[in-house]
Amino acid sequence: YANSREDWDNLPIPPVQKNESTKKGYVKYTINVQKGFTEFFEGVRVPTLGYNGNILGPTLRAKKGDIVEIVVNNKLDEETTVHWHGIIVPGEMDGGPHQRILPGKQWTAKFIVDQQAATVWYHPHGIGTTASQVYWGLGGLFILDDEVSENLNIPNEYGIDDIPIIIQDKRFLNDGRLVYLTSMRDIMFGMLGNTVLVNGAIEPKKTVPRGIVRFRLLNASNARSYLLKFDKQIPIFLIATDGGFIEKPIEINKIFLSPGERIEILADFSSINEGDIVSLEDGNYKFLKFKIGKKGKNYEIPPRLANFNKITKDESFKTRDFVLSGLGHMVNINGKQFDINRIDEIVEIGTTEIWRVSANMGMHRMMINNNGRNYVIHNFHAHGVLFQVLSRNGKPPALHERGWKDTIALRDGDTVELIMKFKKKGIFMYHCHILEHEDNGMMGQFLVK
Ligand code: C2O
Ligand code: CU
Ligand code: CU
Repeated sequence: YANSREDWDNLPIPPVQKNESTKKGYVKYTINVQKGFTEFFEGVRVPTLGYNGNILGPTLRAKKGDIVEIVVNNKLDEETTVHWHGIIVPGEMDGGPHQRILPGKQWTAKFIVDQQAATVWYHPHGIGTTASQVYWGLGGLFILDDEVSENLNIPNEYGIDDIPIIIQDKRFLNDGRLVYLTSMRDIMFGMLGNTVLVNGAIEPKKTVPRGIVRFRLLNASNARSYLLKFDKQIPIFLIATDGGFIEKPIEINKIFLSPGERIEILADFSSINEGDIVSLEDGNYKFLKFKIGKKGKNYEIPPRLANFNKITKDESFKTRDFVLSGLGHMVNINGKQFDINRIDEIVEIGTTEIWRVSANMGMHRMMINNNGRNYVIHNFHAHGVLFQVLSRNGKPPALHERGWKDTIALRDGDTVELIMKFKKKGIFMYHCHILEHEDNGMMGQFLVK
């Protein structure tokens, strides 16, 4: 079955959820976690999961200082949770494994947006069910705004020149059916698909204005990392990492994203002729095509974006070590697998710490090399906190890792030093964001008190 949807502008744009509250500074959303069907290939309907729809979910939006109330109804026949990945909220609102929502039950999250503008996301986080629920469709974008983002002169027309790009890979059989975990390797390294989807559609196409376009890219794949680039020489500028804007745009030519990471870029299509096609590719797999349309609004690359306060090493109160090892059912952090009844680290509220995280494959190294997959073997995500990368293997981090982050890729043998200040109380998770690893126990808990 070839994808027969040849028409342009078939890139689905997740709708922005309507605010049910009329009170100023108050945002109320209702999210139903439900079963549905998706026709990835014409004529083949496959069961999927979605938030308020058949697959993925609406884009939620809130501004710094807003009170946000989100009512979640679990309409599945298994339990779920909804975690706000990248939003810094108290532990009991975090939507991690402790905030279980049984089938047919409801959970309400309520928090104040207390951070700078950023592109974050939401997804399930149940024990042993995160990977499958994300794979079958659960996940959505959450856009945080603030005074800075609202006043910057950069593209901001959602779906027109400010385009959400949720990248996922899935495995389809020749008959168009979607399958999950079909080999031992999927459990060892995490599930890799054979097809790349954007916003839940296979290899879609979109017309963009001939000018500067903003893309909000999220890698919502279970296990695959991407090294993205455009197939034509156009200027692209990094403007934001996981936790929001960097200080000023940095020209880049490739975009690296491991699972869970986000990046915002400005791409300048003005040197491309109207009607021409530019593709976004990983390796040479072109999975998203843009047709250059009419000239858009006049934008320039802004010289400055936002204030960025660097945290320095001497602010740190304590250093902790996290060693990520193993594959498949043997994955562990510091030799331990997840236990919901065990707190692994206790942190004092308001303090700053350095977390030194490394990935060491030990005896598995041979196997990785033999598989030709000696790249991102694990990554590390912490809840309840944003961090800055002080170093990677003793050297300053790459340009795209110098902003606020919540997730960081690790290759075999890598050590990163992350510096962070703890601002919210409660129990939080840290884990590998290769979701099959997370579900197999590559996760720990820290208590901030
Ligand atoms: Cu995106 Cu703990 O997860
Ligand atoms: Cu998270
Ligand atoms: Cu891992």
